[in-house]
Amino acid sequence: MATTRKAAKAANKGLEDLFLDGLKDIYYAEKKILKALPKMAKGAESEEVAAAFEKHRMETEGQVERLEEIFEIFGKAARGKTCPAIDGILEEGSEILEDYQGAPALDAGLVAAAQAVEHYEIARYGTLAAWAEQLGKSDVVDLLNATLKEEVATDEALSGLGEGGVNERALQEAA
Ligand SMILES: [Fe+2]
Ligand SMILES: [Fe+2]
Repeated sequence: MATTRKAAKAANKGLEDLFLDGLKDIYYAEKKILKALPKMAKGAESEEVAAAFEKHRMETEGQVERLEEIFEIFGKAARGKTCPAIDGILEEGSEILEDYQGAPALDAGLVAAAQAVEHYEIARYGTLAAWAEQLGKSDVVDLLNATLKEEVATDEALSGLGEGGVNERALQEAA
């Protein structure tokens, strides 16, 4: 009986439900990221890596605000929903911080951990923007794309840091 009720409830779920679930997921994720970035900045060996994390922390504050605006557009209270994916990705970042403390490869590991976060966000925001477009919410599409642009730029900046010396330093100092 319970299964039947669950199935009946699911039968009514459409794209807007999917969108709102995804919105709660990324809202939870951004708030977790907001807490993780200062720890990563503090742990980083080089100033440029720390500065990149700090810059993105400030951007992330604006991203949380954009999500709150989107909840408002849909007439919903801003609420997160536990996202095991981001919990796992951030947990791996914490492991790097612990296991590579003081090691030459620390920053290379942190940059890679941060890029895993960005790629998760890029996947989510890309999907949410496509669904918002389908739902005919062009103002929401604009808000999501503004964040998506920042996530892509952050990912590229992190690649630049890795290739611009961080990976090489990890190699050289270990030799
Ligand atoms: Fe973000
Ligand atoms: Fe991000």
